[in-house]
Amino acid sequence: MTNSTVSSPFPTTVVTGGTIGSIVVGCKLQVLHGQPPEYRKAEILSIRPTATADDPARSEYYVHYSDYNKRLDEWVAPERLNLLGEIEYPKVKKPKTVLAGVGKETGKGSEPGTPSGRVSKNNRKSNLSKAATTGKGAETASTPGASGSNKRKAAAMEEDSASQEQGTGMNGTTPTIQVQGEEDEDEEMANGESVSQEQILDENGDVFSKEQEIEKLRTSGSMTQNPHEVARVKNLNMIQIGKHEVETWYFSPYPVEYAYLPTLYICEFCLSYFPAVKQLSRHRLKCTLQHPPGNEIYRKDDISFFEIDGRKQKVYCRNLCLLSKLFLDHKTLYYDVDPFLFYVMTQRDEDGAHLIGYFSKEKESSEQYNVACILTMPQYQRMGFGRLLIAFSYELSKVEKRLGSPEKPLSDLGLLSYRAFWAETIVSLLVEQQKAGIELSIDDIANRTAFQPQDVLHTLQNLNALKYYHGQYVIVLSDTVIKNAERAAKKKRREVDPKALVWKPIHFTATQLRFL
Ligand code: ACO
Ligand code: ZN
Repeated sequence: MTNSTVSSPFPTTVVTGGTIGSIVVGCKLQVLHGQPPEYRKAEILSIRPTATADDPARSEYYVHYSDYNKRLDEWVAPERLNLLGEIEYPKVKKPKTVLAGVGKETGKGSEPGTPSGRVSKNNRKSNLSKAATTGKGAETASTPGASGSNKRKAAAMEEDSASQEQGTGMNGTTPTIQVQGEEDEDEEMANGESVSQEQILDENGDVFSKEQEIEKLRTSGSMTQNPHEVARVKNLNMIQIGKHEVETWYFSPYPVEYAYLPTLYICEFCLSYFPAVKQLSRHRLKCTLQHPPGNEIYRKDDISFFEIDGRKQKVYCRNLCLLSKLFLDHKTLYYDVDPFLFYVMTQRDEDGAHLIGYFSKEKESSEQYNVACILTMPQYQRMGFGRLLIAFSYELSKVEKRLGSPEKPLSDLGLLSYRAFWAETIVSLLVEQQKAGIELSIDDIANRTAFQPQDVLHTLQNLNALKYYHGQYVIVLSDTVIKNAERAAKKKRREVDPKALVWKPIHFTATQLRFL
Protein backbone atom coordinates (compact mmCIF):
# COMPACT_ATOMS: atom_id res chain seq x y z
CA MET A 1 0.00 0.00 0.00
CA THR A 2 1.29 3.44 -0.75
CA ASN A 3 0.33 6.82 0.47
CA SER A 4 -0.80 9.45 -1.85
CA THR A 5 2.29 11.49 -2.47
CA VAL A 6 0.99 13.16 -5.58
CA SER A 7 0.97 16.90 -5.54
CA SER A 8 -2.07 18.72 -6.67
CA PRO A 9 -2.10 19.57 -10.34
CA PHE A 10 -4.16 22.68 -9.58
CA PRO A 11 -2.51 26.00 -10.18
CA THR A 12 -4.74 27.73 -7.63
CA THR A 13 -5.08 26.62 -4.05
CA VAL A 14 -8.79 27.05 -3.31
CA VAL A 15 -11.49 25.51 -5.47
CA THR A 16 -15.20 25.05 -4.88
CA GLY A 17 -16.13 21.46 -5.46
CA GLY A 18 -13.91 18.60 -6.55
CA THR A 19 -13.84 14.91 -7.19
CA ILE A 20 -12.70 12.29 -4.72
CA GLY A 21 -9.85 11.44 -7.07
CA SER A 22 -8.47 14.95 -6.75
CA ILE A 23 -8.09 14.73 -2.99
CA VAL A 24 -4.44 14.47 -2.00
CA VAL A 25 -2.45 14.68 1.21
CA GLY A 26 -2.43 18.30 2.33
CA CYS A 27 -5.92 19.14 1.03
CA LYS A 28 -8.12 21.03 3.46
CA LEU A 29 -11.87 20.71 3.29
CA GLN A 30 -14.99 20.28 5.42
CA VAL A 31 -15.34 16.83 6.99
CA LEU A 32 -18.30 15.45 8.92
CA HIS A 33 -17.47 14.91 12.57
CA GLY A 34 -19.13 14.16 15.89
CA GLN A 35 -22.61 13.45 17.14
CA PRO A 36 -24.76 15.00 15.83
CA PRO A 37 -22.46 15.17 12.83
CA GLU A 38 -21.34 18.61 11.74
CA TYR A 39 -18.85 19.83 9.19
CA ARG A 40 -15.45 20.93 10.44
CA LYS A 41 -12.48 22.09 8.46
CA ALA A 42 -9.84 19.38 8.34
CA GLU A 43 -6.56 18.61 6.66
CA ILE A 44 -5.88 15.30 4.95
CA LEU A 45 -2.75 13.85 6.52
CA SER A 46 -2.71 10.49 4.85
CA ILE A 47 -4.63 8.31 2.44
CA ARG A 48 -4.81 4.54 2.36
CA PRO A 49 -6.59 2.27 -0.11
CA THR A 50 -9.54 0.27 1.19
CA ALA A 51 -10.55 -1.31 -2.09
CA THR A 52 -13.80 -3.25 -2.26
CA ALA A 53 -15.09 -5.42 -5.11
CA ASP A 54 -17.58 -2.68 -6.00
CA ASP A 55 -15.13 0.14 -5.64
CA PRO A 56 -11.54 -0.88 -6.34
CA ALA A 57 -10.34 2.72 -6.10
CA ARG A 58 -11.88 3.32 -2.68
CA SER A 59 -9.66 4.91 -0.01
CA GLU A 60 -9.82 6.10 3.57
CA TYR A 61 -8.59 9.49 4.67
CA TYR A 62 -6.71 10.35 7.86
CA VAL A 63 -7.78 13.84 8.90
CA HIS A 64 -6.71 16.47 11.41
CA TYR A 65 -9.47 18.90 12.37
CA SER A 66 -8.13 22.45 12.22
CA ASP A 67 -8.00 24.14 15.62
CA TYR A 68 -8.70 20.92 17.49
CA ASN A 69 -6.31 18.76 19.44
CA LYS A 70 -4.59 15.99 17.54
CA ARG A 71 -6.34 13.38 19.64
CA LEU A 72 -9.44 13.92 17.51
CA ASP A 73 -7.57 12.89 14.36
CA GLU A 74 -9.14 9.88 12.68
CA TRP A 75 -9.57 7.79 9.55
CA VAL A 76 -12.76 8.68 7.71
CA ALA A 77 -14.64 7.18 4.79
CA PRO A 78 -14.84 9.26 1.58
CA GLU A 79 -18.57 9.88 2.20
CA ARG A 80 -17.64 12.15 5.11
CA LEU A 81 -15.69 14.57 2.92
CA ASN A 82 -17.66 17.54 1.61
CA LEU A 83 -16.68 17.48 -2.05
CA LEU A 84 -19.21 20.16 -2.94
CA GLY A 85 -17.76 22.82 -0.67
CA GLU A 86 -14.48 24.68 -0.67
CA ILE A 87 -11.37 22.57 -1.10
CA GLU A 88 -7.95 24.01 -0.42
CA TYR A 89 -5.32 22.15 -2.39
CA PRO A 90 -1.71 22.14 -1.29
CA LYS A 91 0.66 24.13 -3.41
CA VAL A 92 2.70 22.10 -5.84
CA LYS A 93 5.63 20.61 -3.94
CA LYS A 94 8.67 22.77 -4.15
CA PRO A 95 11.93 23.23 -2.37
CA LYS A 96 12.41 22.60 1.30
CA THR A 97 11.62 26.14 2.41
CA VAL A 98 8.03 25.69 1.33
CA LEU A 99 7.75 22.40 3.17
CA ALA A 100 9.19 23.86 6.35
CA GLY A 101 6.43 26.43 6.33
CA VAL A 102 3.82 23.74 5.99
CA GLY A 103 5.46 21.79 8.76
CA LYS A 104 4.79 24.53 11.26
CA GLU A 105 1.19 23.48 11.27
CA THR A 106 2.04 20.64 13.61
CA GLY A 107 1.95 23.27 16.31
CA LYS A 108 -1.79 22.91 16.16
CA GLY A 109 -1.42 19.56 17.76
CA SER A 110 -0.88 21.12 21.11
CA GLU A 111 -3.94 23.29 21.02
CA PRO A 112 -6.67 22.23 23.33
CA GLY A 113 -9.88 20.73 22.16
CA THR A 114 -12.47 18.26 23.14
CA PRO A 115 -11.04 14.85 23.49
CA SER A 116 -11.85 11.86 21.44
CA GLY A 117 -12.34 8.36 22.59
CA ARG A 118 -15.10 6.20 23.85
CA VAL A 119 -13.78 6.42 27.34
CA SER A 120 -12.54 9.91 27.43
CA LYS A 121 -15.60 11.51 25.92
CA ASN A 122 -17.62 10.71 28.97
CA ASN A 123 -14.99 11.97 31.28
CA ARG A 124 -14.25 15.35 29.84
CA LYS A 125 -16.31 18.43 30.41
CA SER A 126 -16.52 21.59 28.43
CA ASN A 127 -13.77 23.48 30.23
CA LEU A 128 -11.29 22.51 27.62
CA SER A 129 -13.04 24.25 24.83
CA LYS A 130 -13.32 27.21 27.15
CA ALA A 131 -9.57 27.10 27.50
CA ALA A 132 -9.38 27.08 23.74
CA THR A 133 -11.30 30.31 23.46
CA THR A 134 -9.39 32.01 26.23
CA GLY A 135 -6.20 30.80 24.66
CA LYS A 136 -4.99 29.19 27.86
CA GLY A 137 -4.08 25.96 26.20
CA ALA A 138 -1.95 27.71 23.66
CA GLU A 139 0.52 28.36 26.42
CA THR A 140 1.48 24.75 26.33
CA ALA A 141 3.36 25.23 23.13
CA SER A 142 5.30 28.20 24.34
CA THR A 143 5.52 27.84 28.06
CA PRO A 144 8.14 30.23 29.28
CA GLY A 145 11.16 28.42 30.56
CA ALA A 146 10.98 25.68 27.96
CA SER A 147 14.51 24.52 27.64
CA GLY A 148 16.77 24.87 24.67
CA SER A 149 16.36 21.18 24.11
CA ASN A 150 12.67 21.71 23.67
CA LYS A 151 13.32 24.33 21.07
CA ARG A 152 15.63 21.95 19.28
CA LYS A 153 12.91 19.38 19.49
CA ALA A 154 10.38 21.79 18.07
CA ALA A 155 12.67 22.32 15.12
CA ALA A 156 12.94 18.58 14.66
CA MET A 157 9.17 18.34 14.78
CA GLU A 158 8.82 20.92 12.08
CA GLU A 159 11.25 19.12 9.86
CA ASP A 160 9.47 15.91 10.50
CA SER A 161 6.07 17.20 9.69
CA ALA A 162 7.48 18.56 6.48
CA SER A 163 8.57 15.08 5.53
CA GLN A 164 5.23 13.70 6.61
CA GLU A 165 3.58 16.15 4.29
CA GLN A 166 5.28 14.39 1.49
CA GLY A 167 3.46 11.26 2.42
CA THR A 168 6.39 9.43 3.92
CA GLY A 169 4.37 8.63 7.01
CA MET A 170 3.83 5.31 8.61
CA ASN A 171 1.12 4.23 6.29
CA GLY A 172 3.49 3.06 3.70
CA THR A 173 2.97 -0.57 4.54
CA THR A 174 0.27 -2.56 6.17
CA PRO A 175 2.05 -5.26 8.06
CA THR A 176 0.60 -8.70 7.91
CA ILE A 177 -0.23 -9.86 11.37
CA GLN A 178 0.55 -13.48 11.67
CA VAL A 179 -1.59 -14.75 14.45
CA GLN A 180 0.67 -17.53 15.43
CA GLY A 181 -0.08 -21.07 16.32
CA GLU A 182 0.45 -22.61 19.68
CA GLU A 183 2.58 -22.04 22.72
CA ASP A 184 6.10 -21.10 21.66
CA GLU A 185 5.39 -19.06 18.60
CA ASP A 186 2.83 -17.34 20.65
CA GLU A 187 5.51 -15.84 22.80
CA GLU A 188 7.37 -14.54 19.78
CA MET A 189 4.59 -12.09 19.22
CA ALA A 190 4.40 -11.22 22.87
CA ASN A 191 6.19 -8.01 23.45
CA GLY A 192 7.72 -8.53 26.80
CA GLU A 193 9.62 -11.56 25.72
CA SER A 194 11.29 -11.38 22.38
CA VAL A 195 10.07 -9.03 19.74
CA SER A 196 11.53 -5.58 19.49
CA GLN A 197 12.07 -4.87 23.12
CA GLU A 198 15.69 -4.04 22.48
CA GLN A 199 15.04 -2.44 19.14
CA ILE A 200 12.27 0.06 18.88
CA LEU A 201 11.13 0.43 15.32
CA ASP A 202 9.84 3.65 14.01
CA GLU A 203 6.82 3.91 11.81
CA ASN A 204 8.91 3.24 8.73
CA GLY A 205 10.20 0.03 10.21
CA ASP A 206 13.68 1.50 10.75
CA VAL A 207 15.51 0.58 13.88
CA PHE A 208 16.18 3.42 16.25
CA SER A 209 19.33 2.20 17.94
CA LYS A 210 20.13 2.39 21.61
CA GLU A 211 23.28 4.37 20.85
CA GLN A 212 21.37 6.97 18.88
CA GLU A 213 18.77 7.17 21.58
CA ILE A 214 21.30 7.52 24.39
CA GLU A 215 23.12 10.25 22.53
CA LYS A 216 19.87 12.09 22.21
CA LEU A 217 18.93 11.56 25.80
CA ARG A 218 22.32 12.86 26.87
CA THR A 219 21.86 16.04 24.95
CA SER A 220 18.16 16.58 25.38
CA GLY A 221 17.03 15.86 28.91
CA SER A 222 14.31 13.29 29.29
CA MET A 223 12.74 13.80 25.92
CA THR A 224 13.73 11.87 22.90
CA GLN A 225 14.32 13.75 19.77
CA ASN A 226 13.52 10.91 17.49
CA PRO A 227 11.80 12.92 14.79
CA HIS A 228 9.54 10.01 13.96
CA GLU A 229 8.13 10.14 17.43
CA VAL A 230 5.96 13.03 16.44
CA ALA A 231 4.37 11.05 13.65
CA ARG A 232 1.17 12.65 12.59
CA VAL A 233 -0.78 9.51 11.97
CA LYS A 234 -1.95 7.25 14.78
CA ASN A 235 -0.91 3.60 14.45
CA LEU A 236 -3.32 2.07 16.95
CA ASN A 237 -6.97 2.81 17.52
CA MET A 238 -7.92 0.74 20.50
CA ILE A 239 -6.30 -1.06 23.38
CA GLN A 240 -7.81 -3.47 25.80
CA ILE A 241 -6.30 -3.36 29.25
CA GLY A 242 -7.85 -5.16 32.20
CA LYS A 243 -11.59 -4.68 31.96
CA HIS A 244 -11.28 -1.59 29.85
CA GLU A 245 -11.41 -0.93 26.15
CA VAL A 246 -9.75 2.40 25.56
CA GLU A 247 -9.54 4.44 22.40
CA THR A 248 -6.02 5.74 21.84
CA TRP A 249 -5.17 9.38 21.21
CA TYR A 250 -1.74 9.53 19.56
CA PHE A 251 0.98 7.60 17.79
CA SER A 252 3.16 5.38 19.94
CA PRO A 253 6.20 3.54 18.60
CA TYR A 254 4.98 0.00 19.24
CA PRO A 255 6.74 -2.39 16.87
CA VAL A 256 5.33 -2.10 13.42
CA GLU A 257 3.93 -5.66 13.56
CA TYR A 258 1.34 -4.34 15.98
CA ALA A 259 0.15 -1.38 14.00
CA TYR A 260 -3.24 -1.45 12.30
CA LEU A 261 -4.66 -4.12 14.58
CA PRO A 262 -8.28 -3.42 15.46
CA THR A 263 -7.30 -3.80 19.13
CA LEU A 264 -4.01 -4.32 20.94
CA TYR A 265 -4.37 -6.49 24.05
CA ILE A 266 -2.28 -5.44 27.01
CA CYS A 267 -1.61 -7.39 30.20
CA GLU A 268 -2.66 -4.92 32.84
CA PHE A 269 0.01 -6.09 35.31
CA CYS A 270 3.21 -6.52 33.28
CA LEU A 271 2.04 -4.35 30.35
CA SER A 272 3.14 -6.87 27.71
CA TYR A 273 1.16 -6.51 24.52
CA PHE A 274 -0.49 -9.05 22.23
CA PRO A 275 -2.23 -8.97 18.88
CA ALA A 276 -5.08 -11.28 19.91
CA VAL A 277 -7.13 -11.93 23.01
CA LYS A 278 -6.27 -15.63 22.86
CA GLN A 279 -2.60 -14.84 23.22
CA LEU A 280 -3.24 -12.51 26.11
CA SER A 281 -5.30 -15.20 27.86
CA ARG A 282 -2.50 -17.71 27.43
CA HIS A 283 -0.02 -15.16 28.75
CA ARG A 284 -2.20 -14.52 31.79
CA LEU A 285 -2.01 -18.21 32.68
CA LYS A 286 1.74 -17.81 32.98
CA CYS A 287 2.10 -14.21 34.17
CA THR A 288 2.24 -14.19 37.93
CA LEU A 289 2.23 -10.43 38.45
CA GLN A 290 -0.74 -8.93 40.25
CA HIS A 291 0.80 -5.54 40.84
CA PRO A 292 3.54 -3.49 39.24
CA PRO A 293 7.09 -4.67 39.94
CA GLY A 294 9.05 -2.59 42.45
CA ASN A 295 8.53 -1.45 46.03
CA GLU A 296 5.19 -0.46 47.40
CA ILE A 297 6.05 2.83 49.10
CA TYR A 298 2.56 4.07 49.91
CA ARG A 299 -0.71 2.40 50.85
CA LYS A 300 -3.86 4.14 51.98
CA ASP A 301 -7.30 2.59 51.60
CA ASP A 302 -7.28 0.91 48.18
CA ILE A 303 -4.60 3.16 46.68
CA SER A 304 -0.95 2.14 46.47
CA PHE A 305 2.12 3.67 44.90
CA PHE A 306 4.98 1.53 43.64
CA GLU A 307 8.46 2.88 43.02
CA ILE A 308 10.12 1.28 40.02
CA ASP A 309 13.70 1.83 38.92
CA GLY A 310 13.94 2.08 35.15
CA ARG A 311 17.33 0.46 35.28
CA LYS A 312 16.10 -2.60 37.15
CA GLN A 313 12.75 -3.09 35.44
CA LYS A 314 13.59 -2.12 31.88
CA VAL A 315 10.92 -4.13 30.09
CA TYR A 316 8.10 -3.03 32.37
CA CYS A 317 9.17 0.63 32.21
CA ARG A 318 9.53 0.58 28.43
CA ASN A 319 6.11 -0.99 28.14
CA LEU A 320 4.74 1.70 30.43
CA CYS A 321 6.28 4.40 28.27
CA LEU A 322 4.89 2.85 25.09
CA LEU A 323 1.47 2.71 26.70
CA SER A 324 1.60 6.27 27.98
CA LYS A 325 2.79 7.60 24.63
CA LEU A 326 -0.65 6.64 23.27
CA PHE A 327 -2.03 9.50 25.40
CA LEU A 328 0.89 11.92 25.48
CA ASP A 329 1.57 13.83 22.35
CA HIS A 330 4.22 16.36 23.01
CA LYS A 331 6.83 14.36 24.85
CA THR A 332 7.75 11.06 26.27
CA LEU A 333 10.66 8.84 26.72
CA TYR A 334 10.19 5.34 25.58
CA TYR A 335 13.48 3.71 25.12
CA ASP A 336 16.17 4.50 27.62
CA VAL A 337 14.41 4.27 30.90
CA ASP A 338 17.56 3.87 33.03
CA PRO A 339 17.79 7.49 34.21
CA PHE A 340 14.24 7.48 35.57
CA LEU A 341 12.22 6.31 38.50
CA PHE A 342 8.58 5.51 37.88
CA TYR A 343 5.88 6.03 40.47
CA VAL A 344 2.92 3.89 39.54
CA MET A 345 -0.42 4.42 41.26
CA THR A 346 -2.78 1.47 41.54
CA GLN A 347 -6.21 0.70 42.94
CA ARG A 348 -6.53 -2.63 44.70
CA ASP A 349 -9.36 -5.15 44.54
CA GLU A 350 -9.56 -8.92 44.86
CA ASP A 351 -7.92 -9.40 41.43
CA GLY A 352 -4.85 -7.30 42.12
CA ALA A 353 -3.47 -3.76 42.03
CA HIS A 354 -4.78 -2.14 38.84
CA LEU A 355 -2.85 0.58 37.04
CA ILE A 356 -4.55 3.97 37.32
CA GLY A 357 -1.73 6.29 36.40
CA TYR A 358 1.91 7.11 36.96
CA PHE A 359 4.55 9.75 36.78
CA SER A 360 8.21 9.40 35.92
CA LYS A 361 10.99 11.34 37.55
CA GLU A 362 14.61 11.82 36.60
CA LYS A 363 16.99 10.33 39.14
CA GLU A 364 18.96 13.56 38.94
CA SER A 365 17.31 16.56 37.38
CA SER A 366 19.57 19.50 36.71
CA GLU A 367 16.50 21.69 36.36
CA GLN A 368 14.87 20.52 39.59
CA TYR A 369 12.01 18.81 37.83
CA ASN A 370 10.11 16.49 40.14
CA VAL A 371 7.96 15.01 37.35
CA ALA A 372 9.01 14.16 33.80
CA CYS A 373 5.79 12.65 32.40
CA ILE A 374 2.48 12.20 34.16
CA LEU A 375 -0.57 10.26 33.07
CA THR A 376 -3.92 9.11 34.35
CA MET A 377 -5.24 6.28 32.17
CA PRO A 378 -8.19 7.76 30.21
CA GLN A 379 -10.74 5.44 31.83
CA TYR A 380 -9.86 7.00 35.21
CA GLN A 381 -9.56 10.64 34.19
CA ARG A 382 -11.57 13.45 35.79
CA MET A 383 -11.97 11.48 39.01
CA GLY A 384 -9.31 13.28 41.00
CA PHE A 385 -6.51 10.77 40.36
CA GLY A 386 -4.34 13.27 38.46
CA ARG A 387 -4.54 15.57 41.45
CA LEU A 388 -3.48 12.68 43.67
CA LEU A 389 -0.49 11.92 41.43
CA ILE A 390 0.56 15.56 41.44
CA ALA A 391 0.12 15.83 45.22
CA PHE A 392 2.19 12.68 45.64
CA SER A 393 5.02 14.09 43.52
CA TYR A 394 5.21 17.09 45.85
CA GLU A 395 5.14 14.85 48.93
CA LEU A 396 8.26 13.18 47.59
CA SER A 397 9.85 16.59 47.05
CA LYS A 398 9.01 17.55 50.64
CA VAL A 399 10.80 14.43 51.92
CA GLU A 400 13.74 15.27 49.68
CA LYS A 401 13.65 18.83 51.05
CA ARG A 402 13.61 20.16 47.52
CA LEU A 403 11.32 22.41 45.56
CA GLY A 404 10.01 20.79 42.41
CA SER A 405 8.20 21.54 39.20
CA PRO A 406 6.93 19.46 36.29
CA GLU A 407 9.06 19.22 33.18
CA LYS A 408 8.09 21.68 30.46
CA PRO A 409 6.30 21.97 28.17
CA LEU A 410 3.09 20.82 29.78
CA SER A 411 0.29 19.44 27.68
CA ASP A 412 -3.07 21.22 27.62
CA LEU A 413 -4.49 18.78 30.17
CA GLY A 414 -1.30 18.89 32.22
CA LEU A 415 -1.47 22.66 32.41
CA LEU A 416 -5.13 22.64 33.46
CA SER A 417 -4.47 20.06 36.15
CA TYR A 418 -1.33 21.69 37.54
CA ARG A 419 -2.91 25.13 37.56
CA ALA A 420 -5.93 23.83 39.41
CA PHE A 421 -3.73 22.03 41.93
CA TRP A 422 -1.36 24.94 42.52
CA ALA A 423 -4.22 27.42 42.91
CA GLU A 424 -6.19 25.27 45.31
CA THR A 425 -3.20 24.41 47.46
CA ILE A 426 -1.91 27.97 47.66
CA VAL A 427 -5.30 29.53 48.38
CA SER A 428 -6.18 27.07 51.12
CA LEU A 429 -2.74 27.55 52.70
CA LEU A 430 -3.10 31.33 52.62
CA VAL A 431 -6.64 31.23 54.05
CA GLU A 432 -5.56 28.87 56.82
CA GLN A 433 -2.53 30.99 57.71
CA GLN A 434 -4.52 34.18 57.57
CA LYS A 435 -6.93 32.75 60.14
CA ALA A 436 -3.91 32.12 62.37
CA GLY A 437 -2.71 35.67 61.77
CA ILE A 438 0.38 34.55 59.84
CA GLU A 439 1.57 36.33 56.73
CA LEU A 440 3.36 34.36 54.07
CA SER A 441 5.77 35.47 51.37
CA ILE A 442 6.18 33.72 48.03
CA ASP A 443 9.24 31.91 49.37
CA ASP A 444 7.33 30.83 52.48
CA ILE A 445 4.59 29.38 50.29
CA ALA A 446 7.18 27.62 48.16
CA ASN A 447 8.88 26.11 51.20
CA ARG A 448 5.65 24.81 52.68
CA THR A 449 4.28 23.35 49.47
CA ALA A 450 7.53 22.28 47.74
CA PHE A 451 6.35 24.29 44.69
CA GLN A 452 9.02 26.30 42.96
CA PRO A 453 8.69 30.06 43.60
CA GLN A 454 8.11 30.62 39.86
CA ASP A 455 5.03 28.41 39.96
CA VAL A 456 3.76 30.17 43.10
CA LEU A 457 4.26 33.53 41.43
CA HIS A 458 2.50 32.52 38.21
CA THR A 459 -0.38 31.04 40.16
CA LEU A 460 -0.84 34.21 42.20
CA GLN A 461 -0.70 36.26 39.01
CA ASN A 462 -3.35 34.02 37.41
CA LEU A 463 -5.54 34.50 40.48
CA ASN A 464 -4.99 38.24 40.19
CA ALA A 465 -3.82 38.12 43.78
CA LEU A 466 -0.69 40.27 43.51
CA LYS A 467 -1.38 43.92 44.26
CA TYR A 468 1.04 46.80 44.34
CA TYR A 469 0.48 48.60 47.60
CA HIS A 470 2.58 51.30 49.29
CA GLY A 471 5.57 50.61 47.09
CA GLN A 472 5.55 46.84 47.40
CA TYR A 473 3.66 43.78 46.19
CA VAL A 474 1.23 42.16 48.59
CA ILE A 475 -0.88 39.05 48.24
CA VAL A 476 -4.60 39.79 48.33
CA LEU A 477 -7.23 37.12 47.72
CA SER A 478 -10.56 38.28 46.37
CA ASP A 479 -13.83 37.01 47.86
CA THR A 480 -14.51 35.07 44.65
CA VAL A 481 -11.15 33.28 44.87
CA ILE A 482 -11.80 32.39 48.51
CA LYS A 483 -15.33 31.18 47.77
CA ASN A 484 -14.09 29.04 44.86
CA ALA A 485 -11.45 27.54 47.11
CA GLU A 486 -14.04 26.77 49.79
CA ARG A 487 -16.25 25.14 47.20
CA ALA A 488 -13.35 23.05 45.88
CA ALA A 489 -12.37 22.04 49.42
CA LYS A 490 -15.87 20.65 49.98
CA LYS A 491 -15.51 18.24 47.04
CA LYS A 492 -14.98 14.76 48.35
CA ARG A 493 -11.50 13.91 47.23
CA ARG A 494 -8.78 11.48 47.98
CA GLU A 495 -5.82 13.19 49.62
CA VAL A 496 -2.28 11.97 50.02
CA ASP A 497 -1.63 10.99 53.63
CA PRO A 498 2.05 11.70 54.34
CA LYS A 499 1.96 9.17 57.18
CA ALA A 500 1.21 6.38 54.70
CA LEU A 501 4.38 7.14 52.74
CA VAL A 502 7.28 4.88 53.65
CA TRP A 503 10.09 6.21 51.56
CA LYS A 504 13.60 7.50 51.68
CA PRO A 505 15.06 9.29 48.68
CA ILE A 506 17.52 7.10 46.85
CA HIS A 507 20.88 8.71 46.24
CA PHE A 508 22.48 7.40 43.12
CA THR A 509 26.23 7.32 42.71
CA ALA A 510 27.81 8.67 39.57
CA THR A 511 28.35 5.10 38.36
CA GLN A 512 24.73 4.21 38.91
CA LEU A 513 23.68 7.25 36.96
CA ARG A 514 25.91 6.38 34.03
CA PHE A 515 24.21 5.05 30.96
CA LEU A 516 25.26 1.50 30.31
N1 ACO B 1 -11.00 19.76 31.22
C1 ACO B 1 -10.97 20.74 32.13
N2 ACO B 1 -10.28 20.70 33.30
C2 ACO B 1 -9.55 19.60 33.51
C3 ACO B 1 -9.51 18.51 32.60
C4 ACO B 1 -10.29 18.63 31.41
N3 ACO B 1 -10.33 17.64 30.52
N4 ACO B 1 -8.72 17.55 33.10
C5 ACO B 1 -8.27 18.01 34.29
N5 ACO B 1 -8.76 19.26 34.54
C6 ACO B 1 -8.48 20.11 35.70
C7 ACO B 1 -9.74 20.30 36.52
O1 ACO B 1 -9.62 21.51 37.25
C8 ACO B 1 -9.68 19.11 37.46
O2 ACO B 1 -10.38 19.32 38.66
P1 ACO B 1 -11.97 19.04 38.72
O3 ACO B 1 -12.21 17.70 38.08
O4 ACO B 1 -12.27 19.06 40.17
O5 ACO B 1 -12.58 20.16 37.94
C9 ACO B 1 -8.20 19.05 37.76
O6 ACO B 1 -7.56 19.40 36.55
C10 ACO B 1 -7.71 17.72 38.26
O7 ACO B 1 -8.37 16.69 37.57
P2 ACO B 1 -8.07 15.16 37.89
O8 ACO B 1 -9.32 14.37 37.72
O9 ACO B 1 -7.39 15.05 39.20
O10 ACO B 1 -7.01 14.83 36.75
P3 ACO B 1 -6.94 13.55 35.80
O11 ACO B 1 -6.94 12.29 36.61
O12 ACO B 1 -7.94 13.65 34.74
O13 ACO B 1 -5.45 13.68 35.23
C11 ACO B 1 -3.89 14.40 33.60
C12 ACO B 1 -4.93 14.84 34.65
C13 ACO B 1 -2.84 13.52 34.27
C14 ACO B 1 -3.20 15.61 33.02
C15 ACO B 1 -4.68 13.60 32.51
O14 ACO B 1 -5.55 14.47 31.86
C16 ACO B 1 -3.81 12.91 31.51
O15 ACO B 1 -3.23 11.87 31.77
N6 ACO B 1 -3.73 13.46 30.26
C17 ACO B 1 -3.01 12.85 29.17
C18 ACO B 1 -1.53 12.92 29.39
C19 ACO B 1 -1.07 14.33 29.70
O16 ACO B 1 -1.39 15.27 28.99
N7 ACO B 1 -0.24 14.45 30.77
C20 ACO B 1 0.34 15.70 31.20
C21 ACO B 1 1.52 16.00 30.36
S1 ACO B 1 2.53 17.25 31.04
C22 ACO B 1 3.80 16.39 31.82
O17 ACO B 1 3.91 15.21 31.61
C23 ACO B 1 4.70 17.08 32.79
ZN1 ZN C 1 1.58 -10.11 32.21
